[in-house]
Amino acid sequence: MTEGVGCLGRTLRRKLTLPVFFLATVCLAVCYMFAAMYVVGLQSLNKVQRCENTQNKITPTPAMCLNEISVRNPCKVSLLRRNVTGDSTKQGALYGNLKPHDKMVVPNIAHFIWFTCHKFRFENLISILSVHRSMRPERILFHTDCEPDNKWWFQAKQLIPVLEVINRTAPTTVFNHTLNPKWPEHSADIARLQILIEMGSVYFDTDVIVLAPLEPLRHYDYVAAKPSQDVVSNGIIFAEKNSRFLRYFYNSYKNYIKSCWGCSSVRMQNKLAKSHWDLLHIEPTSLIGPPWNQWQKILLEKYDWQDERFSIHVFLRKYRRRNLDYDFTAENIRYLNTTFGEMCRYIYYGSPALIH
Ligand SMILES: *[C@@H]1O[C@H](CO)[C@@H](O)[C@H](O)[C@H]1NC(C)=O
Ligand SMILES: *[C@@H]1O[C@H](CO)[C@@H](O)[C@H](O)[C@H]1NC(C)=O
Ligand SMILES: *[C@@H]1O[C@H](CO)[C@@H](O)[C@H](O)[C@H]1NC(C)=O
Ligand SMILES: *[C@@H]1O[C@H](CO)[C@@H](O)[C@H](O)[C@H]1NC(C)=O
Repeated sequence: MTEGVGCLGRTLRRKLTLPVFFLATVCLAVCYMFAAMYVVGLQSLNKVQRCENTQNKITPTPAMCLNEISVRNPCKVSLLRRNVTGDSTKQGALYGNLKPHDKMVVPNIAHFIWFTCHKFRFENLISILSVHRSMRPERILFHTDCEPDNKWWFQAKQLIPVLEVINRTAPTTVFNHTLNPKWPEHSADIARLQILIEMGSVYFDTDVIVLAPLEPLRHYDYVAAKPSQDVVSNGIIFAEKNSRFLRYFYNSYKNYIKSCWGCSSVRMQNKLAKSHWDLLHIEPTSLIGPPWNQWQKILLEKYDWQDERFSIHVFLRKYRRRNLDYDFTAENIRYLNTTFGEMCRYIYYGSPALIH
C-alpha cells in the first residue's frame, strides 16, 4: 500500500513538474519582456529629450503611465473662439490698399482640394477640423477626384457635419496650355482660382491650421498672405465671388509658364499684387506663420502661436521628406511637446496642454 501511495505521489510529482516548469518559464519570459519594454521606453524617452535639443528626428513617446491618460472625447470639443484681428486693422505700405466693406463680402464657405488618390493623414484631419472649429463655416467643400478611404477621413466626416464631398476633375489645361504633369500642384493652383471665381469664399491647403475666427478678413474682396518678399502665397485665399484681383490672377494663366514651379502661381500673384495694390489686402504674417525654411519652429520647437494669428501653414510635406518616419495619430500628439503638438491638441482635444 505504502509503495502504492509512494508510486501515486511520484506519478503526481512527475505529472506536475512539467506544467510547473512550463508556468515558471512563461512567467520568467513575461517578466523579461516587461523589463525590456521598460528599458526601451526609458531609452526612447531620453532620446526624445536629446533630439529636441539637437533638432534631429523626434518620435513622440508615451509617458510611462500611459494607462493613466484620461481619454478625452474629440466629439465633445465645442467650437473654439479666440478673437484676433491679425494685421487686418493696419493700413499702409505693407498691407495693400484695399478698403474693407462694412458688411462681410466673402461667403462663409471653406474649400479644400484633394487631387489624385493619396493617404489622408491625421494632420489633414486637423486642418479640416480646425477650419470647422475656428472659422465655423456654413459649408466645407472637399473638391476631389479620389475621395480618401481611411480612418482619419471617416473621422473627419463623423466630426464635421458640414463637410461635403464634391467630385471635381483635376484640370489638365489652362487657356489652351497643357499643364506640366511633373507638378500636380499646378492643377490644384488653377482649380482653386476656378472654384473661387464660381462661388467665392475661402480656399485652404490641407496643411493649414486655422486657430481663430476669420470674420475680420471676410470684409475684403481679396485677401492673401505674403510670407516673403517675392511671394504672395496661394495656400489660403479669401475672395469675393469673381473679385477683380481674382480675375487678373486667373487671366494671367494665359501666359502660363510650364517650366517653372512657382512662376505662374505665387510669384505671379506677387507681381500682380504690386501692380494692383488697391485690389487686395495682404496679411504679411498672421495667416502663414514662419516661412517653410523655418519649419523647425513648428515641428521641433515651441513657437508663440497663441498671438495675433488667424492660422499657420505647417509645410509638413517638406518636413516629412527629411525628418519624419512615423505617422501622427490622435494618440501620439497627446505627448508631442512641440508647437505642432500644442496646436493639434488645441484643435482635436480642445486644449493645448500635454495630456498625461
Ligand atoms: C469674441 O467675439 C465674439 C463676437 O464679437 C464675442 O461674442 C465673444 O465673447 C468674444 N470672445 C472673447 C473670448 O473675447
Ligand atoms: C463622385 O464620384 C464617385 C466615385 O467616382 C461616385 O461613386 C459618386 O457617385 C460621385 N458623386 C456624385 C455626386 O457625382
Ligand atoms: C484655344 O484654341 C482654339 C483653337 O486653336 C481657339 O479657337 C480658342 O480661342 C483658344 N482659346 C483660348 C482661351 O485661347
Ligand atoms: C516641454 O518643452 C519645454 C521647453 O520647450 C520644457 O520646458 C518642458 O519641460 C517640456 N515638458 C515636458 C513634459 O517634457
